[in-house]
Amino acid sequence: PIDQNFLSDEEHYPVTGEHNGHKVRAGGVQRMDAEGKPYPTKNGIHGSIVAVDWEACIADGGCMDVCPVSLFEWALNPGNSGTGNDKKISPDDKENYDKYRTDKCDPVRENECIFCMACESVCPTLAIKINPS
Ligand code: SF4
Ligand code: F3S
Ligand code: ZN
Repeated sequence: PIDQNFLSDEEHYPVTGEHNGHKVRAGGVQRMDAEGKPYPTKNGIHGSIVAVDWEACIADGGCMDVCPVSLFEWALNPGNSGTGNDKKISPDDKENYDKYRTDKCDPVRENECIFCMACESVCPTLAIKINPS
């Protein structure tokens, strides 16, 4: 699940980049907390108003189905294919593509959110946090 307090925890979730018009926090780094729990890292948290923890997202797609303003888009296999060896798998290779699918939903139009909270509720891994502004 996404850390509900990520916005106010700049120590562990510093802004590390921009992507499709939104901020990325804690991307590209691996950190551990005092208990040795890894913070969402590497792929980072995408967005501020509509935030998706890309470590937690498992490409369920429910958020896209329920969003009344269709503000999410797929980021297809960001970084690598999920095989661990950075080998790209073509979507045409359906069996392996689904097996190693690491697509992430990206809140590309987070400013259009109407705060219905449907995406937060539907996500099976609680990867989304809405921060009404
Ligand atoms: Fe879309 Fe509603 Fe989620 Fe906002 S809270 S991103 S409008 S589903
Ligand atoms: Fe990912 Fe959850 Fe959406 S797993 S695709 S954020 S419903
Ligand atoms: Zn993004």
